[in-house]
Amino acid sequence: MISTLEIPVHKTTKSRLAQVDMNHLPFGKYISDHMLVADYRDGEWQAPEILPYGDLSMPPAMLALHYGQSVFEGMKAFRMADGNVSIFRLEKHYDRLCKSMERLCMPLLPQELFMEGLKKLVEVDADWVPSQEGSSLYLRPFVFASEERYGVGPSNEYKFIIFTGPVGPYYPQPLRVKVEDHYIRAARGGVGYAKCAGNYGGVLYPTQKAKEAGFDQVLWTDGSPELNIEESGTMNVMFLINNTLVTPPLSDTILDGVTRDSLLTIAQDLGYQVEERSISAFELKEAFEQDILKEAFGVGTAAVTAPIQTIHIKGKDYSVSDYNEQSFCNQLKKRLTAIRTGMEKDVYFWNTIIQK
Ligand code: COI
Repeated sequence: MISTLEIPVHKTTKSRLAQVDMNHLPFGKYISDHMLVADYRDGEWQAPEILPYGDLSMPPAMLALHYGQSVFEGMKAFRMADGNVSIFRLEKHYDRLCKSMERLCMPLLPQELFMEGLKKLVEVDADWVPSQEGSSLYLRPFVFASEERYGVGPSNEYKFIIFTGPVGPYYPQPLRVKVEDHYIRAARGGVGYAKCAGNYGGVLYPTQKAKEAGFDQVLWTDGSPELNIEESGTMNVMFLINNTLVTPPLSDTILDGVTRDSLLTIAQDLGYQVEERSISAFELKEAFEQDILKEAFGVGTAAVTAPIQTIHIKGKDYSVSDYNEQSFCNQLKKRLTAIRTGMEKDVYFWNTIIQK
């Protein structure tokens, strides 16, 4: 696509890059020098600009702060073997943002604004893309209701902002999770499939309670007596049962994860059988008892894959055998990393390349 969108760039005179140790990048700590900002008012999206990252001024009566009309995306850009930078699955993230915005009653963001905005911002802060193995530049586009009003209703004004930040590899200890049989994350007909701010605020309390009880995360269910599994923490979840990869099917209570979609594609191409189907806590228990549950792992943009060691089901712990380099979840992660960094051919056309 030839871009017609000219985005003015106001560069910072005080880069913070030298203060960052690219060998130690906790997730969510560092923010790159610039941000993109575009406003929606008078019924249309206004021209974007790239500015030094900094505070916003906002009225206390700003709608998003009160009624949660706020959505976001989580994406990554990678340093490739040849020094160029790739942004992963721009189109799929744009499509999901549109679905989230529609559900939250927001005016559609033009595709060009999202695509060209991200490309330009990554280009401007290209020096912030780490080259250390497993590291990347996390991209956070988000839209929120910015009108000053406290009457409940869709806002007439919005802000679209993108900021970015370098993040390190994620090598978690295998997780201990609990099948949550009291709280739920999402209900049928609700907003579970949208990447809206409230979905993340709502899981904090049950997660904190689970942590107090000695777990790392909760395994969310649909709240039915069958305890059909939906997600793990803030990630999608997958199970390797015998040689079949099983994951709950997309619905209005499950986020259409980009990593989920990518790993399902890769697993299929590696010759694994893939099943997107309901899986209950009781089926999991039986699979553990028959020793056919080989692996369980969360999948998301931040972690890519997060192995689960123990699942607590109705008062009892069930564990899978240890993970190692050869584990299936690590094989999937390696293949995905190789595609993103240009070590393997991008046969799926997932990468958008920014030339160095
Ligand atoms: C992810 O796992 O990538 C998520 O979506 C969680 C995010 C809020 C950090």
